[in-house]
Order: sequence, then C-alpha cells, then structure tokens
Amino acid sequence: MSMLQINGLNVWFGKNQNRVDAVRQAKFTVAKGESFGLVGESGSGKSTVLRAITGLAPNWSGTMDIDGQSLTRTRPKSFFKTVQMVFQDPYASLHPRHSVDQVLGETLYLHGFSDIDARVVKLLDDVGLGQKFRFRYPHQLSGGQRQRVAIARALAPEPRLLLLDEPTSALDVSVQAEILNLLADLRADRGLTYLMVSHDLSVVGHMCDRLAVMNNGEIVEILDVDALRAMKASHPYSQHLLEASL
Ligand SMILES: Nc1ncnc2c1ncn2[C@@H]1O[C@H](COP(=O)(O)OP(=O)(O)O)[C@@H](O)[C@H]1O
Ligand SMILES: [Mg+2]
Repeated sequence: MSMLQINGLNVWFGKNQNRVDAVRQAKFTVAKGESFGLVGESGSGKSTVLRAITGLAPNWSGTMDIDGQSLTRTRPKSFFKTVQMVFQDPYASLHPRHSVDQVLGETLYLHGFSDIDARVVKLLDDVGLGQKFRFRYPHQLSGGQRQRVAIARALAPEPRLLLLDEPTSALDVSVQAEILNLLADLRADRGLTYLMVSHDLSVVGHMCDRLAVMNNGEIVEILDVDALRAMKASHPYSQHLLEASL
C-alpha cells in the first residue's frame, strides 16, 4: 500500500472574483519509503499541496489518502503522529522565547510521551546537535542549527511521512548540503517517506526517487530521477525547466 495517494486534488483560496485556483486536478502516489519531489517555479502550487495535506489550506476537493486512510476536513491529533512538516524558514517556525528543550519537550508531551528527558537527549543526538544545545534559544543558534531543531521537532512524534517545504533554501549554501545529508541519513535509518518541495532541481536530483513537475497549479509530468539526471523529460515545460536549471 502506498504512503500517500493524491487524486483529483483541487485547492483554492478566496471566493468569487478573488478566487485563486492554486492546485488543479493533482494526482500522484508516494510509495512507503520513497522520496518524492515536487518541483516548479515560484507560485506553481507546490507549498499549497503540502498545506492541503496538513490541513492548512481548508478549501479543497478530491481525495488524499495517507497509508490507505482518506483525509477528511479536519486533522485529528493522531494524524500528526504519522505526518509532520518542516518549513522553509527555521527563523519563522521556532518561537523566539522557547528554548530548544521547551520546543522538543512540549511536542513530546503533546504527543503523550512520558520519557521526555531521554527523548529530548536522543533527538538532539539524532540531528547532530547534542546536549550543549539543549537550553539554548533560537537567537543563539545558526540557521542550520535552527533547522536541525525544526527537524528534531518534526521527528519527535515518530512520524512516517515528512513533508519538507524547501527545507534548505533559506540557509547559506555552505550548510545546505549538511542538512540534506542529515535528511537523507534520517530517511535511511528510519525508513521514512518524504514529500519534498524544491525549486532547485539539483537538490531533488540528489534527494528524490521520483518527482512531479508543477506549472501554474497543475502537475504536467512525473519523472524518475534517472530521467531528470539524463535531462530527458517528455513534457515541453519540464524540459524547459531542466534546461533552465543548467
Ligand atoms: N493564503 C493564500 N491566499 C491566497 N492565495 C494564495 C495563498 N497561498 C498561496 N496562494 C496562491 O496560490 C498560488 C500557489 O502558491 P504556492 O503554493 O505558495 O506556490 P509555490 O510553493 O509553488 O511557490 C500562488 O498564486 C499564490 O499566490
Ligand atoms: Mg512554496
């Protein structure tokens, strides 16, 4: 059974003359353990797909199935035990007055864990930070360290599917590869499934098994990574995107 199955997904914002149809008739399937990329220019609807899955974009039609279970209007707490999201900007996604210990401890508490201390310690090790970062605040961390905290928070509930929205594009080039390597290792160690948005085809080529190319709210083509590396797309828009990335 697939981890994620999206079919006939439409997502829109606003109504009447202000309506924006951000995603139209999207269809793709992500297998368990697969890493699937969503690529396309800014505004093509990539983040909106992730937001619809997590319940942050309330106006949608079609079907979204997680591990064989159809999503309804609201996401129960149990949903976030399976699905977690990492956002582009770790500066914005961490509360400035919450220490790393609070961020991780509260998430663990919310998800009903009791061995919180031991889990905070383990999570910090798992993301390559270690104990010396435990009582720091976001402003005492670099961008890459903050993103490691955000990844640790996403891992805390022991999810199976991670939605990654441009997880390295707000970071310095020098730390992007470190974070991508961390994400690749975590997936291998835990058998995680990734749905990763990026506008950077080299990132997707490095991280993903297959990818969907989005243009103006629609998926125009689904490619495997070999076709991407060989620069062989069949849709003219995808081919244009490949050539533009050189
Ligand atoms: N909250 C919102 N309200 C209105 N329009 C939105 C909202 N979020 C996104 N959009 C619009 O939906 C389209 C897709 O946006 P987005 O999914 O963020 O694109 P991408 O992530 O590919 O850059 C864009 O036209 C954007 O302006
Ligand atoms: Mg986006």
